[in-house]
Amino acid sequence: MPTNRDVVLVDKQALGGPYFVLTFEHAEVATEGRAGQFVMIKAGQSAEPPLRRPFSILATDPAQGRFRLFVKAIGQGTRALCALQPGEPAQCLGPLGRPFTAPAADEEPLLVAGGYGIAPFLLMSHELRARGVTARVFYGGRTAAELQLREPFAAAGVPLVLSTDDGSLGFPGRVTGALEAHLDRGGDGRRPRLYACGPDPMLHAVAALAARRGLAAEVSLDPWMGCGVGTCLGCVVKIQGPEQERWKYRCACTEGPVFDATHVVWPGDATSAAAGAAR
Ligand SMILES: Cc1cc2nc3c(=O)[nH]c(=O)nc-3n(C[C@H](O)[C@H](O)[C@H](O)COP(=O)(O)OP(=O)(O)OC[C@H]3O[C@@H](n4cnc5c(N)ncnc54)[C@H](O)[C@@H]3O)c2cc1C
Ligand code: FES
Repeated sequence: MPTNRDVVLVDKQALGGPYFVLTFEHAEVATEGRAGQFVMIKAGQSAEPPLRRPFSILATDPAQGRFRLFVKAIGQGTRALCALQPGEPAQCLGPLGRPFTAPAADEEPLLVAGGYGIAPFLLMSHELRARGVTARVFYGGRTAAELQLREPFAAAGVPLVLSTDDGSLGFPGRVTGALEAHLDRGGDGRRPRLYACGPDPMLHAVAALAARRGLAAEVSLDPWMGCGVGTCLGCVVKIQGPEQERWKYRCACTEGPVFDATHVVWPGDATSAAAGAAR
């Protein structure tokens, strides 16, 4: 069950550019939060901006009752959060949403991230490590400056494959190119299972790659969210499950944000909205 709390910022780490790691106290998020789940949070206690914003849980510390977020400051809500100083308050509801599904014992978990989509995969790497499973993380951005969350993965000894569109760091090209190169080499011998979080075109590309290669894949969608609890319908996405004759709108906040990639009706796909609606 999500818990609503007034929380305080206990630590702020400024990474490069607009990227910050923020640590808050919230006992329930710290103990119950799972990789792929998120919180709705806003800085301060005033009504401005009126709506909280969604952020994936980056890391949890149950012993201290704390959790972390990786935030890219891009607008009013994120800038206000990143301007908080330790000791200052925020309003936080969580944990929310459906987490990623654990891989089977014979599957190699490949975590594919674009930009701030890297956030859930630090927690996921730790969850898998606790079960004796090592994940490989593919972390892509347009430039090296966008890959600001490398250090915690290195510190945890998580295999990390970097890629940049401009070739300034790691594999030159899209993150899906780095992933394909790994798959073409045979991976680590286990059956690959893909997990992806990032911008929609990247998620769509991962879903298409998984379909081509017959791989299981889950994607964490990133729609606009107003409430986080299924009441505003601002976050609906088109989903068509295996038993359904046509797509239905589903709330990404309560039924996602993690979905089976084969169930998502991607804009412009052969199985697109119009096709789904006609079936
Ligand atoms: C489930 C989920 C998890 C998320 N996790 C993280 C995270 O770990 N770290 C992080 O930095 N961000 C994350 N986001 C995105 C974050 O919620 C938005 O960046 C934030 O809501 C922007 O709020 P703002 O007030 O700063 O910007 P606004 O002033 O509301 O918007 C600024 C600009 O960003 C665009 N924008 C706003 N929200 C989104 C969105 N969801 N996707 C694409 N463009 C958007 C707006 O259209 C506008 O152009 C997540 C979003 C979702 C749905
Ligand atoms: S964000 Fe309001 S219904 Fe999902």
